[in-house]
Amino acid sequence: MRIFLIGYMGSGKSMVGKGLAKKLNLSFIDMDDYIEERNFKSIPQIFAEDGEDGFRKLEQKALAELANFEDVVIATGGGAPCFFNNMEVIKNSGRSVYLKGSPRIIAERLKQSKVERPLIKGKNDEQLVNFIDETLSKRENWYKQADVIIEFDHDISIDEVINRI
Ligand code: S3P
Repeated sequence: MRIFLIGYMGSGKSMVGKGLAKKLNLSFIDMDDYIEERNFKSIPQIFAEDGEDGFRKLEQKALAELANFEDVVIATGGGAPCFFNNMEVIKNSGRSVYLKGSPRIIAERLKQSKVERPLIKGKNDEQLVNFIDETLSKRENWYKQADVIIEFDHDISIDEVINRI
């Protein structure tokens, strides 16, 4: 069994993924962590040195590898399904679940998050909301292809997710 959690930055993929993996007795892999370990560089370092294009290539490669892992829940990076044929790869190799947080909850979570995300670094509240509005509507074209869509406007519990998968 292979489950891919997809969705925007800050939609809770890692948190939900860890809980889901535990409940279903599967391993958990965070794709960003995997990319960092495989390349011996942090995500911000990859963006700084290789640009977003360089990061997307490493992300595509990581996905191709992870698509062969067994019994695993994979939290993908927020942009992963939206580049190359990545969404096709995800759909062909496992069950895909879109955690569809509202822009409001995404903005709240991102403001509180300590994870450094190059795409939103240095943005003030208004710039962040504008950025989310712009990119989320484009990314929805890929996200909405998921097998399961879980829409929420509150902090979602693992049980809630499991019941809806
Ligand atoms: C990105 C999301 C991040 C990370 C990178 C780019 C994106 O992952 O892959 O900073 O393009 O949305 P999270 O969704 O885990 O924050």
